[in-house]
Amino acid sequence: MKFTHDSIERNVWLMVVLTILVVSVGGLVEIVPLFFQKSTTEPVAGLKPYDPLRLTGRDVYVREGCFLCHSQMIRPFRAETERYGHYSVAGEFVYDHPFQWGSKRTGPDLHRVGGRYSDEWHRAHLINPRDVVPESNMPAFAFLEGNPADAALIETKMRQLRKVGVPYSDEEIAGAKAQLEGKSELDAIIAYLQGMGLELKDAK
Ligand code: HEC
Repeated sequence: MKFTHDSIERNVWLMVVLTILVVSVGGLVEIVPLFFQKSTTEPVAGLKPYDPLRLTGRDVYVREGCFLCHSQMIRPFRAETERYGHYSVAGEFVYDHPFQWGSKRTGPDLHRVGGRYSDEWHRAHLINPRDVVPESNMPAFAFLEGNPADAALIETKMRQLRKVGVPYSDEEIAGAKAQLEGKSELDAIIAYLQGMGLELKDAK
């Protein structure tokens, strides 16, 4: 068989193999350098790993599927930056495992929501969104108030995150349970929301 354009187009398996080869090389050339670029691997100035309460809040966020309606990814377009603030950059997410970027926006993007409202506003909003935003169709999460923040697994979670590069110290891990004492899942998720996107909040 001659290895010509014609023979490749007529032999589906040869075509499949060559397509995979070309796509793999193209993919590797685009993806591999990202692992070595500082702008994608180093935390932005001021970024700290989640403290135990925020980490617990983040897990509640994932469990409750907040990401199904909210993205955490402000795109670098004027319409987005005027509404939400500075666009999101990779270095803000280096301690996020896994990322909560999302793409579905039934509600607004939440990446720069930290500090936008008071804790009381969030409490009222999560208990019944319609009390503060009458036209809201966000579900109520009042039950989170009655759930104690889960301290049983917090040390294990932090140790696992350390394995993938989050720099928790032994003291931080040892003191984690105490920080969750008396806190509810509602407190935890509010702490998580209030810490979101602060590092570049005032950046221009
Ligand atoms: C079914 C879709 C849906 C789900 C699930 C959902 N939300 Fe919302 N959310 C909305 C909508 C719509 C709005 C806009 C109206 C409002 O403010 O209530 C909103 C608004 C918000 C706001 C205010 C944002 C701003 O900038 O004004 C916060 C904070 C928020 N949601 C947090 C959460 C959290 C935390 C969860 C998970 C516990 C969650 N949402 C789950 C739909 C949703």
